[in-house]
Amino acid sequence: MKIVGGMNMKKIAFIGTGNMGGALIKATCKAVDPKEVLITNRTIAKAQELSDELGCCLAQNNQEAVKNASYIVLCVKPQVINEVLEEIAPVVREEAKKRELVLTTIVVGKKIADYTEIIGLKELPVIRTMPNMPAAIGQGMTIAARNEFVKDAQMQEYFSLMKESGLMEEVAEDKMNAAGNLSGCAPAWAFLFIEALADGAVQTGVPRKSAVKYAAQTVLGAAQMVLETGKHPGELKDAVCSPGGTTIVGVRALEDRGFRGATMSAVTAAYEKTIGMK
Ligand SMILES: NC(=O)c1ccc[n+]([C@@H]2O[C@H](COP(=O)([O-])OP(=O)(O)OC[C@H]3O[C@@H](n4cnc5c(N)ncnc54)[C@H](OP(=O)(O)O)[C@@H]3O)[C@@H](O)[C@H]2O)c1
Repeated sequence: MKIVGGMNMKKIAFIGTGNMGGALIKATCKAVDPKEVLITNRTIAKAQELSDELGCCLAQNNQEAVKNASYIVLCVKPQVINEVLEEIAPVVREEAKKRELVLTTIVVGKKIADYTEIIGLKELPVIRTMPNMPAAIGQGMTIAARNEFVKDAQMQEYFSLMKESGLMEEVAEDKMNAAGNLSGCAPAWAFLFIEALADGAVQTGVPRKSAVKYAAQTVLGAAQMVLETGKHPGELKDAVCSPGGTTIVGVRALEDRGFRGATMSAVTAAYEKTIGMK
């Protein structure tokens, strides 16, 4: 679907329709009428394909997207974010004089102050978020922070636009890197764990397909128990480990190989990398 001149203002526009942008666009199109969603991308054919699939609107370029929506979500890689910001800056400044406009970003590492500085508008409302890949199936964990120019009602509206992507939680910006780093990266580590569980089961004779299914459902169930019971994971672990039983032998094997230390190191190493990004 193409946009045409004189169209009504859209609720939300996405710049970048890649892996994460695409997942959020799909979720947003479930939360609101897809006609309220405007998308664009460097390779415009990719955005066109998604717009045809979802029935949302297409902007031919980034400036056109900014001109026609209330929330602008930046979904490009960190390597190109500065050039995108420089490109849209004059339009953002112009539009912000006339109406309410909130700039939102999913780009890792970059601070809210960097956006307002490059755009050249200190009072620009900015929401910085860190979604994760399970948003693609409505099971994401998104961490969000805002500057003082984003009103409560705007934050609530943005959360509501994103509600089909999974859980959303607001933190102060100084906790953004730490919290967002965990939610953004941990799916990959969880996939690794599931793969390793399945490999172990294959070694003991379970067919591959079943092994992957059993491992994934088991991890899902365990995660759900943590959330639903509110119990400490250590307490739940203790409840599964019978004295002299099989599970505690596995716990010992994992601890012998530094399982928890290795996992904590993954979190802190990724955090160090995050804070080194500009
Ligand atoms: N993937 C994750 O799990 C995850 C989680 C949290 C946050 N993030 C953040 O999400 C952002 C995007 O990651 P991704 O994995 O979705 O990357 P991706 O799949 O490479 O998508 C990036 C998209 O941006 C488009 N793009 C590049 N330059 C552009 C420009 N000048 N104007 C408009 N569109 C442009 C690309 O278009 P082309 O089709 O032309 O390449 C591509 O579709 C990153 O900043 C990352 O930090 C990702």
